[in-house]
Amino acid sequence: MQDTIIRFENVTKQFDDDAPVLDNVSFEIEKGKFYTLLGPSGCGKTTILRLIAGFLEASAGDIYLNEKKINAIPANKRPVNTVFQDYALFPHLNVYENVAFGLRIKKLAKKVIDEKVKEALRFVNLSGYEKREISEMSGGQRQRVAIARAIVNEPEVILLDEPLSALDLKLRTEMQYELRDLQRRLGITFIFVTHDQEEALAMSDEIFVLNKGEIQQSGTPIDIYDEPINRFVADFIGESNIVSGKMIQDFEVEFVGRHFECVDQGFNPNETVEIVIRPEDLEITAADKGQLRVKVDWLLFRGVHYEMGCVDVDGNEWLVHTTKKAKIGDEIGLTFDAEAIHVMRLGETEAEFDKRLESYDEVE
Ligand SMILES: Nc1ncnc2c1ncn2[C@@H]1O[C@H](COP(=O)(O)OP(=O)(O)OP(=O)(O)O)[C@@H](O)[C@H]1O
Ligand SMILES: [Mg+2]
Repeated sequence: MQDTIIRFENVTKQFDDDAPVLDNVSFEIEKGKFYTLLGPSGCGKTTILRLIAGFLEASAGDIYLNEKKINAIPANKRPVNTVFQDYALFPHLNVYENVAFGLRIKKLAKKVIDEKVKEALRFVNLSGYEKREISEMSGGQRQRVAIARAIVNEPEVILLDEPLSALDLKLRTEMQYELRDLQRRLGITFIFVTHDQEEALAMSDEIFVLNKGEIQQSGTPIDIYDEPINRFVADFIGESNIVSGKMIQDFEVEFVGRHFECVDQGFNPNETVEIVIRPEDLEITAADKGQLRVKVDWLLFRGVHYEMGCVDVDGNEWLVHTTKKAKIGDEIGLTFDAEAIHVMRLGETEAEFDKRLESYDEVE
């Protein structure tokens, strides 16, 4: 409990009379970890950051920092710094002065400012760039100045609102490594916003998947990828084949008109469910040897593997990632293990979902 740094308790945010943008959201952020808020445009990610920073006030509910209620604490009194998407650097100040800005406002001694600014620039690999104008810096370098400006204040939490979205793919990947490494070296809590699922999976200790102002699921990247709670999360995180089905009894599920062995349990007999199978868990074989018989509809070479769109007799699409080759129009079979079938209960809440998964562990 003492490791919790930020806690939202039933926080709702509503603008005017509109429907709430955040609806009764509760979560905990632990000290020293890298968190990601992931979700589609408009789901409330920036709103959460602004509530933490103190740029917005909650309509209902409480926000705690180190177990102290901070609803009424103004932004400049919170030990939190934000790195904005457009960096919001001061164009008329050089690199040094951009980073020093907050320290000058705090009226620290010149020598202290100098030490802190140099240390922050060293952290982001920009030693020697002190005199440069912002207009003479590349996108990635500006990004690092913005980060230096945030860390120089030694905040307890750094909020990053899609800080990499303006960068091209290669630089973006480099900055992902750098940011992750920086977070580990500093040991400061990072709350990072993105709508890019690969970025979230690669960088985070914990991910909160948001949709329409609600947290759908929270957990480690592996948990969320392997055990998505519902269709939205399965679809949003990675590529998925999702079909509806029926849980006949424990360890037996029916979909596409056939019965399969699975590893799931704790459902009602004949309960309607949704099934997820990841494309990399499907393997291709001869048409009469597979658990599913499909026709190859399209094919893309992706370097390491082929991406293949197949259609079964009922017209369901099956996406397959495989290193084996087939041709468009081929009739092939698809095979998969019992573990590859992931069964989802309709409308299950995160608490119910966690409880069900825990009961599996007890049986094992
Ligand atoms: N000041 C405001 N007044 C009214 N509505 C607002 C205000 N700020 C945000 N909203 C609305 O709140 C919802 C959530 O906005 P938010 O900026 O948190 O989304 P987001 O998840 O950050 O999206 P994006 O990925 O596009 O940045 C949106 O529907 C937005 O239009
Ligand atoms: Mg936003």
